[in-house]
Amino acid sequence: MNTAVKVAIIYYSATGNITEIAREMADTAEKAGAEVRLRRVAELAPPEAIAANPAWAANAAATSEVPVATADDMLWADAVIMGSPTRFGNIASQLKQFLDTLGGVWHQGLLADKVYSGFTSTGTRHGGHESTLLALTHTFHHFGGIVVAPGYTHPGKFEDGNPYGTSHHDGGGTLPVDDTTRAAARIQAERVVRFARAIATPVAA
Ligand SMILES: Cc1cc2nc3c(=O)[nH]c(=O)nc-3n(C[C@H](O)[C@H](O)[C@H](O)COP(=O)(O)O)c2cc1C
Repeated sequence: MNTAVKVAIIYYSATGNITEIAREMADTAEKAGAEVRLRRVAELAPPEAIAANPAWAANAAATSEVPVATADDMLWADAVIMGSPTRFGNIASQLKQFLDTLGGVWHQGLLADKVYSGFTSTGTRHGGHESTLLALTHTFHHFGGIVVAPGYTHPGKFEDGNPYGTSHHDGGGTLPVDDTTRAAARIQAERVVRFARAIATPVAA
């Protein structure tokens, strides 16, 4: 049975790398039969900071039509995939701010029993891929979520090499999201849909 599942892809991106990965995952999840909501979290940085960085300004303009994430997107979803650039080895404050608005629904137990998974992008090869993904996972555990990491469950995972989630490194803004990262994103999104479907499938009495 091909149970319809709902996947929310919720991300923050300043200079566009996370946007690219989020779109790849959204496309993959849709092709796998999921209903998808692609959502960006609200920007907190001042307009002058964004305007001073051409890549940041370009990404802001290119994603202005992407709806801003709300708590309802979390409640709607069977599975949530969250993405954030590394910020000093941790997630971006913009995504953290969104997470911190979820206390009410968390308290009602409404974020539990969903599939959660994460992805990131860094400036350098060893600048915090794993620490950022693990930091994101802390919150998923507090939600009572079912964390679905890609592991090395697909031959392609030995190419990108990160079992915690898809991660890109942008070489200080010189390396756009490439085929290796896109392949990892597809593997992760397909796996999330598969597990969300397994959880959503009614068990025969
Ligand atoms: C304030 C700040 C902190 C950052 N911290 C790190 C870091 O700890 N390690 C790293 O490798 N890159 C770091 N970066 C670089 C970004 O994580 C990287 O450029 C990422 O690919 C940006 O994703 P985006 O294009 O989706 O915004 C930092 C960038 C900023 C602006």
